[in-house]
Formats: sequence, C-alpha cells, structure tokens
Amino acid sequence: MELLPFTRPSIDEATIAGVAEVLRSGWLTSGPQVKAFEAALSRHCGGRPVRAFNSGTAALEVALRLAGVGPGDEVITTSLSSVATANVILEVGAKPVFVDVDFQSRNIDLSLVEKAISRKTRAILPVDLAGLPVDRDHLYRISMEKNLRVIEDACQSFGARWKTRAIGSFGDLVAFSFHANKNVTSAEGGAIVLPDEKSATLCEKLRLQGVTRNGEDGMEVDVLGGKWNLTDVAARIGLGQLARLEEFTARRRALARRYFERWSAPGCALPPRDFENSNWHMFQVALPEHAPRPAFIARMREAGIAVGVHYPAMHLFALYRALGWREGEFPNAERLGRSMATLPLFPAMADTDVERVCGAARKVLADLA
Ligand SMILES: Cc1ncc(COP(=O)(O)O)c(C=O)c1O
Repeated sequence: MELLPFTRPSIDEATIAGVAEVLRSGWLTSGPQVKAFEAALSRHCGGRPVRAFNSGTAALEVALRLAGVGPGDEVITTSLSSVATANVILEVGAKPVFVDVDFQSRNIDLSLVEKAISRKTRAILPVDLAGLPVDRDHLYRISMEKNLRVIEDACQSFGARWKTRAIGSFGDLVAFSFHANKNVTSAEGGAIVLPDEKSATLCEKLRLQGVTRNGEDGMEVDVLGGKWNLTDVAARIGLGQLARLEEFTARRRALARRYFERWSAPGCALPPRDFENSNWHMFQVALPEHAPRPAFIARMREAGIAVGVHYPAMHLFALYRALGWREGEFPNAERLGRSMATLPLFPAMADTDVERVCGAARKVLADLA
C-alpha cells in the first residue's frame, strides 16, 4: 500500500512548463519572475509593499532588523512553533521571551503577554500555528498601548484571514514562508509585507549584501546584508501556486470539515472549528496521555498513513535549555509539544483518505488504551 503523506504540494503542468521557460530564458536568479511574484503578493495584501526572500526564516530575520531589534532587546514569542521563530531572535543578538500558549488555539496566550513585557521588550512575534490566526484585535491593542513593534510570523497562514481581511493586508511587519510544505510553495521561499514604502530600500539592502547600485557602474555598501534573494525559478513556481490559492484553501477547508465529521476516536483534543479565518495549513490532534506519540506514529505508518510532528516545545531544546529555560515553565506548550500529531491534509487528498485516517486512528488509539 502506498504511504499517504501528511502533505504534498500540487504543482500543475502549466507551472512546470513555466519553470522550463525560465530555465531556457537564460535568467535564473532574481529578475522578472521575482518582480511579478512580489507584485502578485502585494495585490493579495491589499497593495502593501512586499519583498521576496529565499526562506521564511530569512524574511523573519530581516523583519526583526527592520523593526530595529538587536542586542539587549527582548522579543516576546511562543515556544510552540518551528524553531526558526526563536532562532532568528537569537541571530539578531536579542533574547526570546517565551510565554505559554492557549491550550485550545495552540497559539500564544495574549493574556500572558503583558506580564512578560519589560523595559527591554522591543517587539512581539506571534505565530499563526497551523494557519489559525492569532487574535489581531487583541494583539495590536497590546502593541499600541505598550508601543511595541509586531513581527507576524505568518509563515503558516498565507491565505488565512482575520475577520474578512487577508493576513498580510494590514498590521506591522508580516513574514510568510513558501517552503514546500506550505499552502502556497515556491519550493523554498518567503516574503515580508512592509508597513510602508520607506522601509523597502533598507529591506532590499538587508536582503542582498547591503548593496545599493546607482548609475551605470555605481555601487555602495553602508549596511551589513545577507544573501537572501529568491531565484526566478522559485518565483515562477510561486506564481503558478498563487493563481490557485482560493481553490487550495477551499479544498483544505472541506477536508478539515470532513475530519470533524468523521473523527470518532475518544480522548483527543481537536483544533478549533474555525471556517472563517484559518487556511487549514494543518489538521493537528492532541493525543490522549495514554497514547505515546512515537507508538501512534509507528502504528499509523504500518496502516499506510504518515503523521507529522509540528512541533516540540522549543524552550526544551538543548540550545534553549543552555540559555536557562526549564521543563514545567510552559505547561500547555509542553503538553501539546509532546502529544500533537499532524494528520494528512493537502488539496490533492481524496475525501476517502480522511475516512481512512480516522478509521486507522480510532483503531490504533483503542489498541494503545
Ligand atoms: C511558524 C514558522 N515559522 C518560520 C518558518 C520558517 O520558514 P522557512 O522554512 O521558509 O525558512 C516556518 C516553516 O517551517 C514556520 O512554520
């Protein structure tokens, strides 16, 4: 039996042909396709300026630098995310300050943020885990009142909405990822939505070695930049994907609804039933305490179904323990980080695959009881 993956990109023939054209064009790296991708992303984000990057991680790191975050600063974030979320804070020389997540939403518990604010706090970096947006009204109320910058880690929530408005069409700095597992992919890639045109010049410099060009042969470097530009090959994939965003999101929502209808294994915590805002990047269930996740994953694989792990609570990684974090500090993140299982969900999945996953999970969890 062929293994049902937990995700798989849907790349159509028109996109493959488009990539072949780029390969034949003689222009492989950042060029017209990147410009077209940025323009299309900007249209999706209500006309706000967008700059493309070669990963979501790079986009987050540059967003932090654009927000002026550096050594001596603190950034409040969640421990339940890709480790990229906190690694970039360390990369710019600042300190991540974790707060726990809300058990239901699995996102940063905004009611705990105010207590974590100190004189050194410069920014909040919330994550829309599984594509479920953090409450933007509450988030920006805090940031306005406390005069903090916001870097939205929207790496998983491209295509999601907050009360009818597209994520990225409002707010401070918003970072997206177009990694192969994301709802819209460019193989690897990312983008920052900027709050104003003024920041675009610095953003472009930070993206590529700090270089400014002028005239026929002028070049100046006045700031340290990285090597984070997107290729035209990747941008062409992204353009092909972007054209199908509505279709992909609708299909993901339909599959998520089906999971809610068909799920029958007792004792699991299901995600919030959000069909207004979430882009359903992932469908994650928290397993009951009696079912160790490694055994669940192994038994599901035997049944021909792949299960993903997104993510262990990152404050318990050795790098972060060495910086002082300990077990027991963030009980919800730790419990979810140990027990959450990402079930298969991707647009090309058949309705009957949902039945198969639900049936297998029910049996495996009964056996593990
Ligand atoms: C929440 C979150 N933040 C950051 C990243 C980093 O994105 P990328 O893999 O494109 O660097 C990811 C992707 O894995 C993510 O899911």
